[in-house]
This record gives sequence, C-alpha cells and structure tokens, in this order.
Amino acid sequence: MPGASRILLIIGGGIAAYKALDLIRRLRERGHAVTPVLTRAGAQFVTPLSVSALAGRRVFSDLFDLTDEAEMGHIELSRSADLIVVAPATADLMAKMAQGHADDLASTLLLATDTPVLLAPAMNVRMWQHPATQRNLATLRADGIGFVGPNEGDMACGEHGPGRMAEVPEILAAITAALADGPLKGRRVLVTSGPTHEPIDPVRYIANRSSGAQGTAIARALVALGAEVVFVTGPATVPPPDGAEVVRVETAREMLAAVEGALPVDAAIFAAAVADWRMANASDRKMKKTAGGLPVLEFAENPDILATVSQMTKGRPPLVVGFAAETHDVLDNATAKHARKGCDWIVANDVSHATGIMGGTENAVTLVTGDGVESWPRMSKAEVAARLAERIARALAADI
Ligand code: C5P
Repeated sequence: MPGASRILLIIGGGIAAYKALDLIRRLRERGHAVTPVLTRAGAQFVTPLSVSALAGRRVFSDLFDLTDEAEMGHIELSRSADLIVVAPATADLMAKMAQGHADDLASTLLLATDTPVLLAPAMNVRMWQHPATQRNLATLRADGIGFVGPNEGDMACGEHGPGRMAEVPEILAAITAALADGPLKGRRVLVTSGPTHEPIDPVRYIANRSSGAQGTAIARALVALGAEVVFVTGPATVPPPDGAEVVRVETAREMLAAVEGALPVDAAIFAAAVADWRMANASDRKMKKTAGGLPVLEFAENPDILATVSQMTKGRPPLVVGFAAETHDVLDNATAKHARKGCDWIVANDVSHATGIMGGTENAVTLVTGDGVESWPRMSKAEVAARLAERIARALAADI
C-alpha cells in the first residue's frame, strides 16, 4: 500500500465484526494507524479490549464521554483521519447516514466528517434487498460514499444471498484504492495472471511455464496509479500484488467464471497464460499403470476468456487488452490475434527459449492498437508494467 495513513475504523453491530479485528491487524502490518470506534451494537460482538489491543490505542465508543470531548472532540476525531472505514456497516447505520442522523458517536462522526468514507455493508439478505436499504444505498452513493461488497454467499443467519461482508483482502484493496491518488483513482481494472492448471487426474495436471511475473507487475503498477484492481490469478510462482483484490483459480473455466464475476470494470488486462485445452476425460481417481498399455489423453477446448469478454454485447469493458506470447512470427501472429479476438490492444512478446522472457525479469514487447504498432525496447517487467499502466490511464482519461 502506498504510504502510511490514518484510518478511523467504525465497527458496527453484526457477526462480521470479528473480521474487523483481522482488518485492524492487516492495516497495521501495512504501517497504517488505526483509530477504532466501536458502536454499542458492535460491542455485543467484539470486546473493546481486543479492539484496542490490536489497534494499539484506545477505542472510542460513547458520544457523551466528557473526557474525550476535552481531549479530542468528535469533530476533530472525524477529521484527523485520511479515510473513515465502516466495517461492518449495518442497515441501521446506512439508514442513519442517508438521513443525516447523529444520535451516537459513529453517526455523529460520519455526519461531521469531511474525509472520504468507505462502507463494507453486512446484513441479512432480505435487509440488504429491502427497497429502503437499496434507496439508502443509492443516496449514499450519490453523496460520494464508497462501498466494498457485500458479497453473495452463506450467511451466519443460515440464509444465502447478497449480504455477507466483503473479505478482509477485498476491504484492504478498496482502502488502498480510496487512499491512492493517481490518474486511475475511481477506476476498476481487472487483471488475469499466471498459468492455469488443467487436471488429468486428482494428482496430475497440464500446466505451462508462466510465472505470473508480468501480470503481477501490471496489477502493481495499476494499484500505484490509484486503480481498484481485481487480480484473477492461476497458480503463479510469484506472490500476488499488495493492494489488489486477489481471486485465486486453477482452471481456465474457473478463471472465466471469476472474470465474469468481477465485471463491470473500466479496463480488463488478460495477461494470464490460459491453457488452450483441458482433458476431456479427466479421471476422478488416480490413473494407474496397467498391463493394458498407455493411457490416451483426450483433449477438449477451453473457453477463450479474452475473446469471450472482447465480444460481449452487453457490459464489455471499454478497454480490453490481450497478450500474445509467441515463439515465432511475433508481429504477424499478434496482428492476426488482435483482429480475431476482438480486443482493443495486444501486447505481444517473443517467449522463445533464447529470449529468457518466460520466467525471467525482463520483457521486450510490441504494442498493437487500432492506431498501429509500437515496439518497446527491452526493459524490466516492472517498467513494461508502468508504461502500460500509464497508457491505460491515458486511454481511459480520453474516454478511449
Ligand atoms: O490465443 P492465445 O492463447 O495466444 O491468446 C493469448 C491471449 O488470450 C492472452 O491475453 C490470454 O490471456 C488470452 N487467453 C484467454 N483464454 C484462453 C486463451 C488465451 O483469455 N483460453
């Protein structure tokens, strides 16, 4: 995460409050100072002691604590932060905010503040879907309040649907994006990265040599320019970038589902080395050596994620970038791929063994856009990423 910031964390009432404890730890690991505020309902789920122990400072909880008013008034408390995060944000707190109520410390801080606010809602699915909550959501969005989640899934109350609080890594990514100040601030960008693994049987798989280094560098460069990045990665060898929301997948089909789940986005960068084929006859038991001869592996074609997204008739990202890893006729293949897949740009590179690019730290790419072809000199993957991220920022700023 770029820089250390002061975060005021309001913990509302809900079972998801336990995740706020981990959130405090992760924020502090990244060097941020966290001032915690625990609502009365929040204190039913986590104790002030655990919150203050993890935050390393006292927890504020009562509006009418006169000592606090003498030491630090609620107005000052609300303004001495770079960002206010509410996690979990209850339906009640959202309603209060939408109406401008100020009847406890949390709602008063939220009304008095002039700093950006990010909410991570958590509530029962019916409460989330209720027209009143949806009205409040629309009002708060129009007021410039940021949201992360809620996610769909099983809920502690036994129901299933939207209402689960976003996971801590997603909240961290949203915090990074909210704090970042750059040309991609407010933009959501998807990056796919790494190889895919296509199972042959429960212990064997088909893979490729992609390390995920270039995709990870691109995601990192996009985060640095202020983008909210969703990073969908196969089993890569390099660790995922800080500050991005990471979605881990194994197979091409899982990657497609994760990509579709991440839409809508302003730009989608498909840097993953997706396996073209999977096994048509993958075995659900470990295949054994038999006297009957060698196994015959039958292949089936995987979905082409880049082509699928490029050719979407509804909800296509305004900028779709594909990669072409070629071992020969790089430019011809890349230009043909640009037309065939229907993407806006292709970043082509020569991955023949002699170049040392696949799995290495450098890259030499050619950018194919609708306007022509540009060859970039050989440079580090981080530099390629920074240059590409800047091009993406310029394209989005120009409305492409
Ligand atoms: O066709 P080819 O695999 O060479 O195309 C490479 C580009 O297409 C990359 O951007 C890669 O991420 C994407 N791709 C994909 N789904 C596939 C195969 C490739 O998204 N099944």
